[in-house]
Amino acid sequence: MTFKKLLFSAVTAGLVMTGLTATANASGAGPIPKMDWSFDGIFGSFDRGALKRGTQVYFEVCAGCHSARLVAYRNLMDIGFTEAEAKELAGEYEVQDGPDDEGEMFMRPAILADRFVPPYANDNAARASNNGALPPDLSLMIKARKGGASYMYAVLTDYHEEAPEGIELADGMYYNGVFPGNQIAMPPPIDDDSVEYADGTKATKDQIAKDVSVFLTWTASPELEERKRMGVKVMVFLFFLTVLMYALKRKIWARVH
Ligand code: HEC
Repeated sequence: MTFKKLLFSAVTAGLVMTGLTATANASGAGPIPKMDWSFDGIFGSFDRGALKRGTQVYFEVCAGCHSARLVAYRNLMDIGFTEAEAKELAGEYEVQDGPDDEGEMFMRPAILADRFVPPYANDNAARASNNGALPPDLSLMIKARKGGASYMYAVLTDYHEEAPEGIELADGMYYNGVFPGNQIAMPPPIDDDSVEYADGTKATKDQIAKDVSVFLTWTASPELEERKRMGVKVMVFLFFLTVLMYALKRKIWARVH
């Protein structure tokens, strides 16, 4: 193989691989419709508006049952909340601290450094309030499920009024088109106008499901934008390095021919 051919195949292989990884990250599983997200692809980034709205949905709806223990209130400052806003949000929750000078534990309002306060004291309390099912922690859910954000969106929206003929729903269970086994203990969590958006966006069920999926993609991959920017830089660097090496090779071997 000549050097030119080698160079050509190396560059092509590189390009194909970047293309492949971009689609592999975003591809949905089986029956889950794959959606377009602003954070897909090698230039992907989060839609700031969606992130903020999604935060609102998380706190006003999901946080009633689900924890997101890996996220701290101060992390919200990375997605456009001011320090005052993040402090105010934290201040609405209480955490146990201590022991104080008398050796007693005490409650105090949460501060920026605290992680999101979970809705239940422990898993048993969570199960007892949810028909025996445990609402899982949502911090990494999007990474844990095939289909990622598209799966999240589908779980939230694909509820059926009635189970198909021949399927008997257990007590307190709902029929969901994408949840494994189709029977889910989570009541349909959102509907049109479940929230009133602070930025005035019309809160359709579809919009709410999308926004909270964006927010939960961020909680699972807060480094996503940084990682993609770095990937692009590396590609650009490799491209120029290749050109440089090729020019150098031509110069070094020029007199041999
Ligand atoms: C009334 C309580 C309640 C609310 C509110 C609620 N959930 Fe759930 N959720 C549950 C329970 C209970 C389960 C466990 C279901 C099961 O195992 O059958 C669950 C499961 C889930 C799952 C798991 C799917 C899986 O693959 O394991 C996701 C994702 C989810 N909820 C997201 C959300 C989001 C996002 C919101 C806010 C828009 C929300 N939930 C609001 C109770 C709730």
